[in-house]
Amino acid sequence: MQKLYGVIGDPIGHSMSPIMHNNEFKQLNINAHYHPFHIVEQNLEIAIAGMKAIGVEGFNVTIPHKTTIIPYLDYIDPLAKAIGAVNTVVRVDGEYHGYNTDGEGYMKALQAEWKDNLENEKVLILGAGGAAKAIYFTLLAKGVLNVDIANRSIDKAENLIKHCPYVIENSKALTLSDAEQNLQEYSLIIQTTSIGMYPNINDCIISLEKLNKNAMVSDIVYNPFETLLLKTAKQKGCNIQNGIGMFVYQGALAFEMWTNKFPDINRMTDIVIRQLG
Ligand code: ATR
Repeated sequence: MQKLYGVIGDPIGHSMSPIMHNNEFKQLNINAHYHPFHIVEQNLEIAIAGMKAIGVEGFNVTIPHKTTIIPYLDYIDPLAKAIGAVNTVVRVDGEYHGYNTDGEGYMKALQAEWKDNLENEKVLILGAGGAAKAIYFTLLAKGVLNVDIANRSIDKAENLIKHCPYVIENSKALTLSDAEQNLQEYSLIIQTTSIGMYPNINDCIISLEKLNKNAMVSDIVYNPFETLLLKTAKQKGCNIQNGIGMFVYQGALAFEMWTNKFPDINRMTDIVIRQLG
């Protein structure tokens, strides 16, 4: 019998996940279908119950449900619980188990596109919202310990550090102007906000004047492929990475949890790029 997967969110019409997952199901001869479900906030609880009743095998969770879904699931993985957000649900013996593959997806993409061992990097995260939290907690959980956070409102960066359950001794909160002044210290810079995203393509979160040319500059935005931040870093001779890898790997990790098969990353990436192009 064909297995059913999907993604829940509001809005959901522009999600690239269905085409990415359905193509892999087809290529790997897996009898399954992935459907975008438009679920508004007030229907979340009943939607989860309905999905469970009709036997949906697994699904992704996107805005605005990543946090509010937690009470409706039967088990939450410790990292997802720490982050306070779930993006992947897996059906296990009739129960729904929640995971967060965003941070690990980010890390795996960075390792694939840059280098495997990140433990000795001096990292600066720009922004302190939900995406920053997933990435920060995952880096620390996986042993990348020298991570500072710069944010427009420094108290949000301080809070992220304070509420992180992993080793935070080597983390500090900075203002964006402190980060600009000390930029040469960092070997990996991770931009986690929507600044620079289409249509605001001339926006850039900080000046890169003091950037070390051996640094990697990574931006979770993928529309445009190169934000002004990445273009500027590239001109300085830095390595750069956009957000496509994170999107593809968070999906690939979910796909693996559902099917026990790791999908073809290049094929998934091609389909996403074609979709965006
Ligand atoms: P997400 O969950 O997608 O990460 P979010 O929780 O709304 O989104 O967080 C947005 C991040 O972008 C925050 O770090 C925010 O800074 P503040 O905490 O100071 O609000 C940052 N951000 C948004 N607009 C910004 C701007 N114009 N300049 C600097 N930072 C900005």
